Amino acid sequence: MDVYGLIGRPVEHSLSPPMHEAAYAARSLDARYVTLEPQPERIDEAIAGADALGVAGLNVTVPFKQDVLPALDPTPTAEAVGAVNTITFDGGTPEGHNTDTEGVIRAFEHHDVAVEDQSAVVVGAGGAGRAATYALADAGADTFVANRTVERAATLADEFADLGVEAGGLDDLDERLPGADLLVNATSVGMDDPDASPVPAALLHGDLAVLDAVYSPLRTRLLRDAADAGATTVDGAWMLLYQGVAAFERWTGVDAPVAAMNAALRDRL
Ligand code: ATR
Repeated sequence: MDVYGLIGRPVEHSLSPPMHEAAYAARSLDARYVTLEPQPERIDEAIAGADALGVAGLNVTVPFKQDVLPALDPTPTAEAVGAVNTITFDGGTPEGHNTDTEGVIRAFEHHDVAVEDQSAVVVGAGGAGRAATYALADAGADTFVANRTVERAATLADEFADLGVEAGGLDDLDERLPGADLLVNATSVGMDDPDASPVPAALLHGDLAVLDAVYSPLRTRLLRDAADAGATTVDGAWMLLYQGVAAFERWTGVDAPVAAMNAALRDRL
């Protein structure tokens, strides 16, 4: 039996176990997916220990996505984003991947939304904002990142200057959104207060595709406003699904049973 796992703190309410176990069942794989909460100061030992135990693969979530990097050989994407959410063990130094970036691109693709050469706005410059900004810019979108704390967005744009990323504050949305094709909410706004949105409804329009990284609640205020404005809406469960799909495919080399994984996820949301 292959054992996969998620390391983070807390992880007890994670939706990854049912999503991955649905995939193992659909593909008749003899595998289990467990959640683990290592001691933060022993994260390197935890990864080495998992490798020594023959763990088949790990996902990584908050607060360890950056902390695991020194113990890993990161892919160019994981290195650029500065965060890892998936680890593979192939004998040498464990490899660190970032499939959150794929989650963003494949969530749009699933909805037939093109990314290349489109004009994208990411709101939020924390961990999720970094992944979304890099993903979109690397996929060829003309990308603007807006953040409440402008300096944080500016730092991010500096790092991704090669990809042409520009940055500003939330006030700049007035100017940027009317001509934008894609909008990603990578802030936590909407999570605690279901009636809060990071973007004024008046700035949303019918030519936008809006992805909200928040998945609880699933229909955030931003997505409701976007739907009212005639925009294409992509909820956060699609991102969660496709980062998991990409991890599953890296670990197993098998095409992911996307519909089964999606059903398992949505059953619990
Ligand atoms: P994550 O790793 O999930 O991105 P984070 O690093 O704590 O979490 O980042 C949270 C993001 O939500 C940041 O972009 C934050 O803006 P600041 O950098 O200015 O803190 C944004 N955010 C949180 N609450 C917000 C609010 N009420 N209005 C606007 N942005 C908010």
